[in-house]
Amino acid sequence: MKIAVAGTGYVGLVTGVCLASKGHEVTCVDVDENKVKIMKNGDSPIYEPGLSELMKEHKNNLVFTTDYEEAYREAEVIFIGVGTPEKQDGSANLSYVFEVAKQIAQTVQRDCVVVIKSTVPIGTNDKIESYIRDKQKNKDVCIYVASNPEFLSQGTAVKDTLCASRIVIGVEEVFPGEVLKKVYEKFDVPKLIVKRRSAEMIKYASNDFLALKISYINEIANLCEIVGANIEEVTEGMGYDARIGHRFLNAGIGYGGSCFPKDTKALNWLANFNDNEIRTIRAAIEVNENQKFKLIKKAKKYYDDFLFLNVAVLGCTFKPGTDDLREAVSLVNVPLLLEDGANVRIWDPVGMENFKKKYPNKIQYCNSIEEAITDADICLILTEWEEIKNFDLRKYEKLMKKPIVLDGRNCYQLEEVKKTNITYDSIGRYTVNPQ
Ligand code: UDX
Repeated sequence: MKIAVAGTGYVGLVTGVCLASKGHEVTCVDVDENKVKIMKNGDSPIYEPGLSELMKEHKNNLVFTTDYEEAYREAEVIFIGVGTPEKQDGSANLSYVFEVAKQIAQTVQRDCVVVIKSTVPIGTNDKIESYIRDKQKNKDVCIYVASNPEFLSQGTAVKDTLCASRIVIGVEEVFPGEVLKKVYEKFDVPKLIVKRRSAEMIKYASNDFLALKISYINEIANLCEIVGANIEEVTEGMGYDARIGHRFLNAGIGYGGSCFPKDTKALNWLANFNDNEIRTIRAAIEVNENQKFKLIKKAKKYYDDFLFLNVAVLGCTFKPGTDDLREAVSLVNVPLLLEDGANVRIWDPVGMENFKKKYPNKIQYCNSIEEAITDADICLILTEWEEIKNFDLRKYEKLMKKPIVLDGRNCYQLEEVKKTNITYDSIGRYTVNPQ
């Protein structure tokens, strides 16, 4: 099928490339000329395992352009995968989505289905359909709007798309549903056809449930520290109940990324806007905001302030497997350390280039974990990279001025740490070698 994809971020580009891999002719459109140039050369502008390889393998089915007219004119299906960033009040900014809708209305010359992949508030698909039908230049063609939310995680986006847990298709008529079934014919995964508003809600309700699960377990972890239980033993025991499950029960210093923070606030906003309250989600947001400060609070147990202290920060991305810093805990913690006069040394396997763009000076960017922790007075672990998990614990002891390690992601087994002299303070577990 002839498919166009608007936006080449994580959602748009991964969708486009995966559809091309199933034999569709895909044209990806982006306003960013630089990005398009990179993609035309066969490279991916984002770090996502397997994506570049798939782009190269299926280059004959892929076109990258800034020319939306060319892309949309004859497309049978147009996916919209542009960003819906958070506005000041927590609501979703839909201006990019509507800009694409306007371009579609001006250019489409055949019947087509516009598919909203971007996460949009409930009711937006209806609005976009009315908007396009109202503004469409060629009144002889019929344009349908369908909701098809994505459920991909960064770092596993290709796998999450090709082997999706489910494909949700939200439509009001039979025809767009049939078209989308054809688009996804070669995806051997459960497909669910529902009404558009339900599809929009499935996306928010799923993401917010996961965010809630994390905030819940983080609060249990905080209580574990107080009452002397161990969160890892607790979650292991809980997870055997299939209704709870072991996944997404890792306690830490809070969730970040491009989805959970934005989607929880958007649903909370939507509830308030409708004179309603979604108290569980509001609580999840509050808990997460507090959790981000947990290591800084713990650090105050060891030092009154950070003035002239060498502070090693290991990991700055919002999670491992991505170079994305959006809503990362590092963006809250590092400025506090700097304000307080610390000498901050950061190590991260892929995130430092992006961090440098925000903080070009004042921070020492290190080529290795060893370099970051040498002579450090304290070490903060913010992201659970494999390199950190596999790091030889004795090196903290050997290289740090004072071996105090505050682990926001529970990277190490307490039994292993106990074999060293490191003061090790993690989340929801007792402190090893307390001072
Ligand atoms: C998420 C959803 O998983 C995905 O389905 C949706 O489409 C987009 O949002 P992503 O933001 O890429 O994906 O990351 P995810 O792996 O879900 O992690 C989000 C945050 O939660 C990270 O900061 C991570 O560190 C944190 N997290 C995750 C925990 O703190 N504990 C966990 O057990 C799992």
